[in-house]
Amino acid sequence: MRVIEATEAAQTHVRERDTKSVLVPTMGALHRGHLKLIHVAREHAGKDGEVAVSIFVNPLQFEPGSDFEKYPRPEAADEKLCEEAGVNLLFRPRDMYFDDRSVYIEETSLSSGLCGAMRPGHFRGVCTVVAKLFNLLTPDAAVFGEKDYQQLAVIRRMVRDLNFPIEIIGVPTVREADGLALSSRNQYLNADERTQATVLYRAMTRVKELADGGQKSVRELIDAAKGVIASAKSARVDYVAIVDAVNLHSLETLRPNAVIALAVFIGKTRLIDNLRLT
Ligand code: PAJ
Repeated sequence: MRVIEATEAAQTHVRERDTKSVLVPTMGALHRGHLKLIHVAREHAGKDGEVAVSIFVNPLQFEPGSDFEKYPRPEAADEKLCEEAGVNLLFRPRDMYFDDRSVYIEETSLSSGLCGAMRPGHFRGVCTVVAKLFNLLTPDAAVFGEKDYQQLAVIRRMVRDLNFPIEIIGVPTVREADGLALSSRNQYLNADERTQATVLYRAMTRVKELADGGQKSVRELIDAAKGVIASAKSARVDYVAIVDAVNLHSLETLRPNAVIALAVFIGKTRLIDNLRLT
């Protein structure tokens, strides 16, 4: 596995590369969700292709007062996991941004609701860093998790609207046995909070049951989700929404292609999740 830490070295590397390349962008603290993405990247790259993983805790996507400083950065363990997973290139840039940077990428429609409404500037930071990674590493394809459903939709839109010649591959969410979606932020939870964190999945599956049973009123469905969340004492709803799977517009009445998306604080830790309803 080759490790590159300078943007210029990345550009030299891609000029000399003559294989297909598939990129998995991450912020590190790798878990089984990330490893699934790496596995899917290998399937797409083929055995002789390049699987590239980027690890960069992107300051631009953390809003002021959030967890940028305390975000876990287990560099040696991440490097070992990448090596064992058969990654060919680990890109761990130390020089991503110029101090006087003045160009950003902003998606202006899909970013406005859900997490975008709660975290101003977040998707501008995500789009800017992902566009930079695409330019630096020029992959043929890139793999993202459905766990961050809105992020995946925003990246697909950026790639479409700006004509990046890159295939975007979505991967279903990897969960613990009790339904909790794997996330680097789960390690902020203490044992009691970890137990309560299953409330996100329980709320979504309750809504799915009601939807499968014929309930079409989104208000009723969201109230049911909030009822389940209220049963966990450390849980506080950030948002619960039922949206169209493609344009992310809020629905009033359930129809095909609906997704429930939610963000819930468990103590101080903000967790997100989503589930297809139809
Ligand atoms: P990070 O949170 O490290 O996630 C990296 C990728 O792993 C994302 O595409 C995310 O959706 C996926 N992922 C995380 N948990 C997952 C799970 N349980 N199952 C499946 N996939 C999962 O998302 C980011 O980093 C950043 O915003 C980034 C795209 C790297 C830009 O900075």
